[in-house]
Amino acid sequence: MAKILYNKQILPAYYQLGIRWENLPTIEPGQFVMLRLTKYIDPLLRRPFGVYKILGQGARGKGQGIEILYKVLGKGTRLMTNLKPDDEVDILGPLGNSFSAHSGKTNVIIVAGGIGIVPFYLLAKRFKKVRLLFGGRSKDDLPGLDDFKKLKIDIEVSTDDGSRGKKGLVTEIIAKQLSGNSLIYACGPQGMLKEVARIADKTGIPCYVSLDKAMACGIGACLGCAIKVKGQGPWVKSQENKSAIRNPQSAIYKMVCKDGPIFDAREIVWEEI
Ligand SMILES: Cc1cc2nc3c(=O)[nH]c(=O)nc-3n(C[C@H](O)[C@H](O)[C@H](O)COP(=O)(O)OP(=O)(O)OC[C@H]3O[C@@H](n4cnc5c(N)ncnc54)[C@H](O)[C@@H]3O)c2cc1C
Ligand code: FES
Repeated sequence: MAKILYNKQILPAYYQLGIRWENLPTIEPGQFVMLRLTKYIDPLLRRPFGVYKILGQGARGKGQGIEILYKVLGKGTRLMTNLKPDDEVDILGPLGNSFSAHSGKTNVIIVAGGIGIVPFYLLAKRFKKVRLLFGGRSKDDLPGLDDFKKLKIDIEVSTDDGSRGKKGLVTEIIAKQLSGNSLIYACGPQGMLKEVARIADKTGIPCYVSLDKAMACGIGACLGCAIKVKGQGPWVKSQENKSAIRNPQSAIYKMVCKDGPIFDAREIVWEEI
């Protein structure tokens, strides 16, 4: 159980929620928590939210709480807007994997769509040089932009309606940013992720995506967040030299909550996501 510190509306559909967390565990960029409002019976199940910031982080990296950045979508997030300081929430985490190190890549590009910006605040702070491509439907769908500006990183913004930054999709500005030494991290709507994965695949650039799937348990127990991944099925004989290889056509399921939410984009069977 944890207590609310603040719940601030930052844009018409977006809020920042500060949560005090005694004995905060180490949280890596990209990890998430499952959160439930104890005041209400419905919704019964916890909801997943990325950790946006660590609060009150001292010199030793220990924080006193976390900040969640959330978008009002359905019943649970609508009720979250009623949370007041000192209200209690039930929180489980940190859960899931985190973004892997960038192994010497010098052109690190973050591609975020709307609320998909969340996992990147902690990540961007780890790099001396990183470029953020941030897209939203309109200027009201760029939550946290001011926080990222304060990090003094390169930022390029696009909106579908042209109300801020370049008019068009964020995926339209990726190509000219790529070089031989690039690495892409992406999070956002599925259509955006698919297109980013396609561009990365075509150009041979490593790409890691954070997936968003509705989750009931968050710990790998309910199997509700399964996705199909490639090439890890049964061993077969290679046609070429008869050695044993993994059947490249085969696929298995992985759980977004336990095996993810971050995956190598090449691993995912995008047609079935
Ligand atoms: C790993 C992970 C991290 C996330 N981090 C954040 C975050 O930092 N901030 C944030 O605002 N949201 C985040 N989400 C999404 C968030 O969990 C959902 O928006 C939330 O659960 C919706 O709850 P609700 O009760 O308001 O909506 P519901 O009433 O449960 O659903 C409303 C509608 O949204 C759909 N829906 C429910 N959950 C999701 C989902 N996960 N993705 C797409 N559609 C969904 C439902 O099918 C329904 O149509 C994250 C999801 C995952 C899996
Ligand atoms: S949410 Fe239950 S297995 Fe992933």
